Amino acid sequence: MAKITVLIVDDIPETRENLRKLLYFEPDIEIVGTAANGREAIDQARKVQPNIVLMDINMPDMDGISASQEITRVAPMCQVIMMSVQSEADYLRRSMLAGAMDFLTKPFTSEELSSSIHRVFQMGASRRAAMPAATLDPSLGGVPGVGQVPAGGAPPQGKLLLVFSPKGGTGCSSVAANLAIALHKASSRKIALVDLSLQFGDIDAILNLQGHHSLADAVGRGDELDGDLLNALMSPHASGIKVMAAPPSPEMAESISSEEVKVILSLMRQEFDFVIADTCSYLDDTVLAAMDLADRLLLVMVPEIPSIKATKQLFEIAEALEFPSDHIDLILNKVATRDDIRADQIGNSLRHSILAQLELDPRSMRLATNQGLPLVMGQPNLPLAAAFAEIAQQLLALLEPKPVAPVEEPAEVGKAERTKRVGLFGRLKK
Ligand SMILES: Nc1ncnc2c1ncn2[C@@H]1O[C@H](COP(=O)(O)OP(=O)(O)OP(=O)(O)O)[C@@H](O)[C@H]1O
Ligand SMILES: [Mg+2]
Repeated sequence: MAKITVLIVDDIPETRENLRKLLYFEPDIEIVGTAANGREAIDQARKVQPNIVLMDINMPDMDGISASQEITRVAPMCQVIMMSVQSEADYLRRSMLAGAMDFLTKPFTSEELSSSIHRVFQMGASRRAAMPAATLDPSLGGVPGVGQVPAGGAPPQGKLLLVFSPKGGTGCSSVAANLAIALHKASSRKIALVDLSLQFGDIDAILNLQGHHSLADAVGRGDELDGDLLNALMSPHASGIKVMAAPPSPEMAESISSEEVKVILSLMRQEFDFVIADTCSYLDDTVLAAMDLADRLLLVMVPEIPSIKATKQLFEIAEALEFPSDHIDLILNKVATRDDIRADQIGNSLRHSILAQLELDPRSMRLATNQGLPLVMGQPNLPLAAAFAEIAQQLLALLEPKPVAPVEEPAEVGKAERTKRVGLFGRLKK
């Protein structure tokens, strides 16, 4: 019978020895390595790929929580049991977010230790069985969960609205934040706002949510990333929406692949009725990946020639990508004087009608941004706030699921739709 392999991580040699003794009489448990700090633990876990890592929290060099986070990435099949003298809720919560499966408060008995190891191993067994072999072998570069349809194959339920502008500073983030809140106000549905402006995202600042988790915490989780973990990594906002912030520093954006963005967005659609994604103004892999899943693309533009020109180019790209033009909504922002190019002129030039116009109101917008209180909450009586509410109503009308009558040929319809909507990247490269 194969034994449960265990790696012991603790900075105190006597503790490591005691743990070894506690497990000495367990016939089906084998200690395959020890480590004295987080870094050693990561190295050992990568090399030995044990079933279980017994991890101390407080260690010099690298603590057990940071090490666990990394281990879930380099050795996705390892399962971590956290050990600490502290049993405070915060330690427990942080351990769970780092990927730990159980938490033992020192001192514990050999029975407690053994039953935790068996229980956690058992939990892993069903997960291992559910995972395709290719994704289990880290040497093949497989990251469990990434790029796969979530277990159970449940189709995504929520609608993904991608807010994009091919020009910077047009008001994407302001629109995304206000619209997410307006949609919640109008519908009381579950709304997620996700900041896909990975390098310099500012949704957290606009909503005054600094210091919370970010998208970077959701990557590299493999199939551990489920609805509960996703929700735990999102910040609740006073408006009632939940927010997934962009990584706290630009260099962390590199660690987030477009495949992982897709997995996270797909999961979000299962958890929320509407997912609003803010983006940067660059058509990068992340934006393309999100566009591949998007139900509607909200293009934010301003009444200026460069913005109109860039939007025109975007329409051409969207067509090349086979993104349906009737799923694109134009929002004309910062509309000011009578001298401006009119919405109908812009609509004619783009051969697409403008869904909504938002007036230029720098004073109110600045106040909202600096207070960290979006305009629809802090200044709800302004015309601009009413305009956001109106857009929310329009989008709800467009996106409300209509009752579907049973039809004779659902398989063919589904097939045609899938063929049309799969693989934006491939279509762009054609
Ligand atoms: N309707 C408006 N009236 C006046 N100012 C606005 C309006 N909409 C947005 N702004 C302001 O324009 C600036 C840019 O807005 P925002 O950050 O939302 O744009 P963005 O397209 O997300 O920019 P970036 O390209 O930097 O991500 C901000 O100072 C914002 O307050
Ligand atoms: Mg922005």
